[in-house]
Amino acid sequence: MTMPNNTANDKAALAASALEVSYHAAPVLRGVDLHVHRGEIYALLGGNGAGKSTMINAFLGFVRPASGSVHVCGHDVAQDPLPARAQLAYVPENVALYEHLSARENIDYFMRLAGMPMKDSDAIGQALHAVGLDPAAWDRRLGGFSKGMRQKVAIALALARNAPVLLLDEPNTGLDPQATSELNRLLKQLRAQDIAVFMVTHDLLSAAEVADRIGFLAQGRIVEEFHASGPERFDVRLLYRHYAGRIAPQDAAWSRQA
Ligand SMILES: Nc1ncnc2c1ncn2[C@@H]1O[C@H](COP(=O)(O)OP(=O)(O)OP(=O)(O)O)[C@@H](O)[C@H]1O
Ligand SMILES: [Mg+2]
Repeated sequence: MTMPNNTANDKAALAASALEVSYHAAPVLRGVDLHVHRGEIYALLGGNGAGKSTMINAFLGFVRPASGSVHVCGHDVAQDPLPARAQLAYVPENVALYEHLSARENIDYFMRLAGMPMKDSDAIGQALHAVGLDPAAWDRRLGGFSKGMRQKVAIALALARNAPVLLLDEPNTGLDPQATSELNRLLKQLRAQDIAVFMVTHDLLSAAEVADRIGFLAQGRIVEEFHASGPERFDVRLLYRHYAGRIAPQDAAWSRQA
């Protein structure tokens, strides 16, 4: 295992540099440069098939770069997959936990599996409390949970693992407005706890509400990045027009930063 060194990539929680990924020689990512820092929420948008989930898979080490590099908290994912993976919590679109186990039992089980058994059920309760899951549901089987409740359990697991980086693939898809707003509130709490949040989404409203930066992936590259901290803030209407491809990137210079 190589120790993290002092390159720019080590300062970021997530870093992709000139990343190229192909499936069976068909290029999907063609030179992605992207950095996400702790205490930051980055939303990646892009059309169906643009390569957003592939980006997540590259951070997880499930796909190998054809060229370029991917670092997680300074660990090169190709060279040191295990320490890199240990920093990541991943919430897929459809959370896969055990249906016949309760929320509490799922966390207990997966923490044991990760070699980090929870000291007591209070610690599990703290994690479930932190994500705002109704205590009445803690001992109910996941089989009866809604998508939003499942996500909360998956995020509670991330909190219990103390993972500094959270990857979410389309977390808003299929959530009602209340569940979306609860998720957004939770993501902001995680940001305040210095966690780096990288979410892939089609939900511009949510992205504009929570993200510090929004990146657009197209033709295998981040073609545009918008920053919430700029004086312009996010303008959802213009973001939408950009997203839908109705304006050229150069027309959106109102909120572009170098
Ligand atoms: N395991 C795979 N083998 C071959 N091709 C794949 C594989 N996974 C993805 N692809 C292809 O790579 C491209 C990008 O897929 P990806 O799933 O990353 O897109 P996406 O941006 O997440 O799309 P969506 O919004 O529909 O989820 C698509 O053309 C897809 O068909
Ligand atoms: Mg996808």
